[in-house]
Amino acid sequence: MLEQIEQLLNSAKTSLKDCSDLKTLNDIRVEYLGKQGKITNLLHSMKDVAKEDRPKLGQLINNARNEIELLILNLQNELNEKTLADKISKEKIDIFEPSKQVEKGEIHPLNKVFDKLIDACVAMGFTVLTGPEVEYDYYNFEALNVPKDHPARDMQDTFFISDNILMRSQTSSVQVRAMQSLKPPFKIVSPGRTYRADSDATHSPVFHQFEGLVVDENVSMVDLKSMLTELLKMLFGQNTKIRFRPSYFPFTEPSVEVDATCPSCGGKGCKLCKNTGYMELLGAGMVNPKVLEMSGIDSKKYSGFAFGPGVDRLAMVVNKIPDLRMMFENDIRFLEQFK
Ligand code: PHE
Repeated sequence: MLEQIEQLLNSAKTSLKDCSDLKTLNDIRVEYLGKQGKITNLLHSMKDVAKEDRPKLGQLINNARNEIELLILNLQNELNEKTLADKISKEKIDIFEPSKQVEKGEIHPLNKVFDKLIDACVAMGFTVLTGPEVEYDYYNFEALNVPKDHPARDMQDTFFISDNILMRSQTSSVQVRAMQSLKPPFKIVSPGRTYRADSDATHSPVFHQFEGLVVDENVSMVDLKSMLTELLKMLFGQNTKIRFRPSYFPFTEPSVEVDATCPSCGGKGCKLCKNTGYMELLGAGMVNPKVLEMSGIDSKKYSGFAFGPGVDRLAMVVNKIPDLRMMFENDIRFLEQFK
């Protein structure tokens, strides 16, 4: 028995000496200390030993087990450290390697124009309001002095959802919602998406408008013109001049078409402005007293002006974009030009 213990200890030591990886180490642990292991078997065979020898032998076997356990534990720590050191040396970081270029996004040219318009108008004391894109006929047309059979309906090729519900064809619908819910005086702008069945280089079925409305006592055409001059100067530069041409909208009276000097040639005439020196930019006018009355505003006491540029058109002019639809195709090569 004594010899057996001695042998077992020696063979364990030899195996451990040759062991250089954690898996083999575990196999050794099972071989000696496991449930069916050599040490356990030795303990079992104690029953064949004379009673008086048992305590001494038991002590020796326990010592051998403790020694093997300790050797395994030490080797395990050693191997763990070695594995970690190997890993660290393999994972060296080359701090001089150039990093991957991070693709930076950019605000869409259309949203840039929206942001500029909103910033300028908020600075002038306007409140920003939004309204639904799926709208009642009433807010889009009726309350804007365009009853069902009115010829002015032909000015806008509208997407109808039902008899009384449509995709709003103009943000002027928010004018009505504002007039019915706010008490004058007020100044609001309403940026948003609008829809018409139209598609060519200067029209897209989805486009964007920026409606402005001021209602107060003694509001006049002069206020409209000075306000729009400031707004367009801010967009196209301080030398910009604007002009009004008579026009027609059912909800404004008088109505005007607003042109600004061409930002490309400054008014001399070029390809962009077709040699006219001016760009046609937006519709505007004094709110038709009928429209004020329909929304419960006393038109004897109050007057107002409204304006509604197509934002896509402004973005085209600012960025010299030849086809409006390019802005919605999400071609990254196009969008990257505005960084
Ligand atoms: N809503 C008009 C259009 O889409 C533009 C406009 C707005 C005209 C406000 C006058 C006043 O054509």
